[in-house]
Amino acid sequence: MRGEFLSASAEQTRDYARRFASGLGPGDVVCMSGQLGAGKTEFMRGIAEVFSCEEQLSSPTFSLMNIYEGWLRGQPFEVHHFDLYRLKTEKELNAAGFDDYLSGPFLSVVEWGERFDSLALRYTRRVDLVIAGEGVRKIVIN
Ligand SMILES: Nc1ncnc2c1ncn2[C@@H]1O[C@H](COP(=O)(O)OP(=O)(O)OP(=O)(O)O)[C@@H](O)[C@H]1O
Ligand SMILES: [Mg+2]
Repeated sequence: MRGEFLSASAEQTRDYARRFASGLGPGDVVCMSGQLGAGKTEFMRGIAEVFSCEEQLSSPTFSLMNIYEGWLRGQPFEVHHFDLYRLKTEKELNAAGFDDYLSGPFLSVVEWGERFDSLALRYTRRVDLVIAGEGVRKIVIN
């Protein structure tokens, strides 16, 4: 799924997210961007639903990451959700060892990852949420 979509409600945003996520699998790294209140958490909820994620665990070793234990075609499948908001520089990103966390048989979704040039080549998909009016969001998927 690619293109520009208009969403008129949080429910519709979750629905677009479900359609988008149905094409994702192991090794995908999604860069999800959008200003505060744009709907990133709603979109993430839709993604998590597709993989029947129930438990949300914090990473024991990487504090900026939550792990959702889900399922893909009957097999256990993890969705790793990163929030890099508090990291400001490439140096901090490196110090946190972030790069090591993106390679593996899971899905990664990275919030605020567009601010780091060093990560640009790691993303397999990009989702940008833009506030386009009261209750309206433009969703750009590449
Ligand atoms: N079309 C829409 N799509 C998504 N959310 C919408 C829409 N219309 C209104 N909303 C509302 O906007 C808010 C989006 O909040 P959400 O927490 O998903 O944003 P966020 O991007 O995660 O923000 P933050 O960066 O602060 O975490 C919710 O309160 C939701 O109900
Ligand atoms: Mg949020």
